Amino acid sequence: MHKTITVTLLASLLMGASAMAEEVNVYSSRHYDTDDAFFAAFTDATGIAVNRIEDDADVLIERIRSEGELGAADVFITVDVGRIARADEAGIFQPLEIEAVEEKVAENLRTDDWTAFSTRARLIFIDKADVSDPPQTYADLADPKYKGMVCTRSSSNVYMQSLLASIIVNEGEDAARAWAEGVMANLARDPEGGDTDQLRGIVSGECDIALANHYYFARGLAGEVSGLTEGIDGIGIVWPNQETNGTHVNISAIGVTKNAPNPENARKLVKFTLTPEAQHLLASGNNEYPVVEGIEPSEAAVTMGSFTADTVPLGDVAAASTAAQKIYNEVGYK
Ligand SMILES: [Fe+2]
Repeated sequence: MHKTITVTLLASLLMGASAMAEEVNVYSSRHYDTDDAFFAAFTDATGIAVNRIEDDADVLIERIRSEGELGAADVFITVDVGRIARADEAGIFQPLEIEAVEEKVAENLRTDDWTAFSTRARLIFIDKADVSDPPQTYADLADPKYKGMVCTRSSSNVYMQSLLASIIVNEGEDAARAWAEGVMANLARDPEGGDTDQLRGIVSGECDIALANHYYFARGLAGEVSGLTEGIDGIGIVWPNQETNGTHVNISAIGVTKNAPNPENARKLVKFTLTPEAQHLLASGNNEYPVVEGIEPSEAAVTMGSFTADTVPLGDVAAASTAAQKIYNEVGYK
């Protein structure tokens, strides 16, 4: 969905349009309603008004890049390391240089130019009634014994690219190519739809095994998701690669733009993402995992269980995403 909204919060109204008013301009491709509460909390805590523009990540990156020194953006927020790394490659960031980030965020979840503020895991889901011998690893999804059973979304999707990129980093390009070929040969249907649709495919009986980010399942647990919640008891969860390198995790992330007109306010916002209050709002609203230790995820996320996460540096994963897309194209993965 393409939408552009500008939200000027109460503080800016109270302060009027005076040149003294403190503000920060946020360009975000996150589309979760709960982010509104996060920005309101930031304004409450700091008095800094938040002006927000939402659109697709690539649209925002191009806008920030083309606006150059005349640009209004102070920070860019997006989901998936593939996208935050694309922004970095476009040269739109300045180094973060924020001590709190270095203290609170694990090294594999940040670079000099951007940091994660929440994480998400990519899981294998199964039809408990039909899969007696579930795959335990991503590699297992390519096992011929699962022929005609597996559902995924399209390889043009950044979640699919980052997963394959993580396989490239962990196991090399040959293993990644074999994986893509093997999974493609096991597909129950042509890749289609989003992550929720893969889970719905299990409920409808079209898919026995599906790949999806954990929070789509959590959403079905916590509320009413049509086509999913009514059959969610029949879906089993597999945390992949628990005996080896851990489950692939990805991130929601933030960076300060190179030409930020309000760089100090931008850094205050980045720091604020790591406060307990903000961690709770940013992570639990979408059932993601906080990056700061000691903060509980949402009830639905906790219900799904705990796991060992892959700690491969996500900057390396992003760097392998072009190679991942090339492999998908070469093997003909739709
Ligand atoms: Fe998502």
